[in-house]
Amino acid sequence: MNGWLIALIVVGGLLFVVAVHDVVQRRNAVWRNFPVIGHFRNFFETTGPEMRQYWISADNQEQPFNRDQRRWVDASSRQRDNHIGFGTEADLERSSNYLIIKPAVFPLPALAAAADDVPGAKVLGGPRGRVKAFRPASVINGSAMSFGSLSGPAIEAINRGAAIAGCWQNTGEGGLVRHHLHGGDLVFQMGTGYFGCRTPTGAFDLSRLVDLVAAAPVRAVEIKLSQGAKPGLGGILPAAKVTPEIAAIRGVEVGKDCVSPPAHSAFRDVSSLLDFVEMVAEATGLPVGIKSAVGETGFWSHLARQMEHGERGVDFITIDGGEGGTGAAPLVFADHVALPWKIGFARVYGAFAEAGVTRRVTFIGSGKLGFAEAALMAFAMGADMINVAREAMLSVGCIQSMKCHTGRCPVGVATQSVRFTRGLDPELKSVRFAAYVKALRHDLLALSHACGAAHPSLVTPDHLEIIDGHFHAARLRTVFDYEPGWAVPDPVECGQLEAFMATRNLTV
Ligand SMILES: Cc1cc2nc3c(=O)[nH]c(=O)nc-3n(C[C@H](O)[C@H](O)[C@H](O)COP(=O)(O)O)c2cc1C
Ligand code: SF4
Repeated sequence: MNGWLIALIVVGGLLFVVAVHDVVQRRNAVWRNFPVIGHFRNFFETTGPEMRQYWISADNQEQPFNRDQRRWVDASSRQRDNHIGFGTEADLERSSNYLIIKPAVFPLPALAAAADDVPGAKVLGGPRGRVKAFRPASVINGSAMSFGSLSGPAIEAINRGAAIAGCWQNTGEGGLVRHHLHGGDLVFQMGTGYFGCRTPTGAFDLSRLVDLVAAAPVRAVEIKLSQGAKPGLGGILPAAKVTPEIAAIRGVEVGKDCVSPPAHSAFRDVSSLLDFVEMVAEATGLPVGIKSAVGETGFWSHLARQMEHGERGVDFITIDGGEGGTGAAPLVFADHVALPWKIGFARVYGAFAEAGVTRRVTFIGSGKLGFAEAALMAFAMGADMINVAREAMLSVGCIQSMKCHTGRCPVGVATQSVRFTRGLDPELKSVRFAAYVKALRHDLLALSHACGAAHPSLVTPDHLEIIDGHFHAARLRTVFDYEPGWAVPDPVECGQLEAFMATRNLTV
């Protein structure tokens, strides 16, 4: 046998061993789905920083999430060191719209390494006296993503992770399915398709909703008016993802686009929306809220004014930014329809502050807020909680290949193809989602302590400034036209929250 043949056999044998190892192991979905060639990704990932330094983009340039952000989620979810060395790569003096968090001269004591206990400051449904009102155990929760846009194993991983981290998972508008039932608390979302609670003709069915939420650990109901990536369009599940299981759950045809209408048929204006909210809350006992992107502001002023009298009202409002994610949307809707989160939220908060009803509502934010500095800014603007969607996907293995609409997600997160989902181990990935949520809560609380605040809800618009790249800095209050007293808890609330956090034993 000549030398070349022996070398060929040895190399072939080694590749075979690597391929068998890749298919059998469960830790890495890329290797499992793409045996042997999947390792090239790791090679380029490892050598990428050096190559990109000369050729391509900087670590803080890519969208929607840059490499620094993805690396932080990845390291946090794997419970690896998520610190950096040497110093910031950001050019603080020349960056515009750059957030600065102002540290207190006498910050609060340092947090214990494992401290991540950050419950909500407001009782959800408390102000309206809902039977099943509760204080959310976590200010960070899983945002709406349906079974259909995400795979069964990805939904299961997030649900199991929610149970470990003590947060909730929002079902998304595609209905409540078996993958949601692995121990995690749920927020049930209804979109215009009313999947899971509809009549055969597609209208809303209250008795089906009551039965559905009673049979699962549902803590609240969210009525989806719109989402930031595609407001005005309703839901779209591309044909490639409409499997027999999903078609049966949603009551639609296999292999055809599943499109929900843009508007609800159960109500048509602010007053009938409030009647609907009260009806659902009365029948289920649960807190009931709405989710929406922000465009016209008249709706929000009208809603806030209708709540002034205290007879009817939503328990929570989730504001989604125009920069929000989606399983599938037309480019122009994703790029141009709906205000970015910060501008949209400031307008909605302003409408409620002017009507004097901000304390009756829990405000939830979503739109690239799953990083500590972005979340802290949201709290400083008046948000009470944060929902995370794509950051949750990153934690369970998403590599931002942006093919969610094709049904060919390489890591099994946003696909229904068994070819790809077999690579995603829900138990392993559940631990990663939980570790990410805990790391985010820890860093958010650490930032609050650096500002001298015992809870993120005690951080105000005066604690943060925006610098503009021309040596000018302005407080958030000025940038977003907040009146004095907006997004600031009153002294009694501050004292209560500080006393409450003191009982949690979070410092070293
Ligand atoms: C794959 C995917 C599916 C989604 N499905 C829904 C949905 O069913 N209902 C909804 O209200 N929002 C949905 N969203 C929007 C998210 O819940 C969230 O509001 C948005 O992505 C912003 O959060 P993020 O920046 O943390 O991703 C989806 C987003 C993604 C990425
Ligand atoms: S890996 Fe790509 S296709 Fe899969 S969820 Fe992430 S962005 Fe979507």
